[in-house]
Amino acid sequence: MSGQFEQLVLPIGTTLDRFINTQQSNFPFAKGEFSQLLRDIAIASKIVNREINRAGLANIAGSFGAHNNHGEEQQKLDIVANVRFTRALKLGGEVCAIASEEDEEMIDTGNHNGKYVVAIDPLDGSSNIDVNVAVGTIFSIYRRISPAGTAPTQEDILQKGTNQVAAGYILYGSSTMLVLTSGAGVDGFTYEPSLGEYYLSHPNMRMPSNGKIYSVNESSFAGFPPGVQDYIRYCHEHNFSARYIGSFVADFHRNLLKGGIFMYPESLKSPEGKLRLMYECFPLAFIVEQAGGKASQGGKRILDIEPKRLHQRSPLYIGSAEMVESLEKHLLLDRVRV
Ligand code: AHG
Ligand code: MN
Ligand code: MN
Repeated sequence: MSGQFEQLVLPIGTTLDRFINTQQSNFPFAKGEFSQLLRDIAIASKIVNREINRAGLANIAGSFGAHNNHGEEQQKLDIVANVRFTRALKLGGEVCAIASEEDEEMIDTGNHNGKYVVAIDPLDGSSNIDVNVAVGTIFSIYRRISPAGTAPTQEDILQKGTNQVAAGYILYGSSTMLVLTSGAGVDGFTYEPSLGEYYLSHPNMRMPSNGKIYSVNESSFAGFPPGVQDYIRYCHEHNFSARYIGSFVADFHRNLLKGGIFMYPESLKSPEGKLRLMYECFPLAFIVEQAGGKASQGGKRILDIEPKRLHQRSPLYIGSAEMVESLEKHLLLDRVRV
């Protein structure tokens, strides 16, 4: 009888807010600004989630008719998401500077007492919006380097990936999820739209150390480095599954759960790769390492790269540790060959 009763009123679980509060109490010197910053991001993501869900009805799907600093066509929702996140971060007061994919220059929020800086890809995979395919948001949080009370500098934002204090992504998929690390493992929260809250659904996420999924835009095969071509042949020979959505967050999330490797190599078409270091590679590299996986530039750990430019690109090989190591071995053979 009591078992039946329990079944009727199963607890929904821990809210993101409660989780953040509990984490903060593990750090006696934390003053709450960092927790507030995470809450600001969560609130903006709920608004963006709403916009994405009604995009087709609200005439906010499709192209905006302008290009961003990478020469890429901006979608209306790129702009909507950028405004929603940057506004929430400015109003929140904890962040002194923001680097966004959609803004050429670093944004000085005017909150010169803010201790943190944020790098963000407000809408990842935005060309998938019009066809109802999953998209995401990626963010990365650093402590500023310049003293509080002064204007932020480039140095505050151009920090190595190892300096990140937190990173996360939101996947607007068949359900909306927020996946977060602050350097003590990775936790996933699922959005419950009728309650308007994220609930802890995937505590302490661990990536399988090996897998059978490879994700790469193979149309550029002919221009890939020979080692990458060899590795892709190896994937074919071993009957791996090819899975490529074209939204980095969605491809990454699937591989995180199932085991796999995502690759965006340099190619003749994109000599530096396509993905951006500050707000695509660094945050997901931090998450993958915290979940037991690896992220490599080819010969070098992604998180150790010293960024020189806000919108710098990098080749990226990210996923299950053994798969990334195997890819690196294939690349090494390239060097022997030369
Ligand atoms: P964004 O929408 O933020 O510009 O990112 C698009 C990225 C990434 O999400 C995806 O993995 C990649 O572009 C796909 O590129 P290709 O079309 O060259 O495969
Ligand atoms: Mn992106
Ligand atoms: Mn984007």
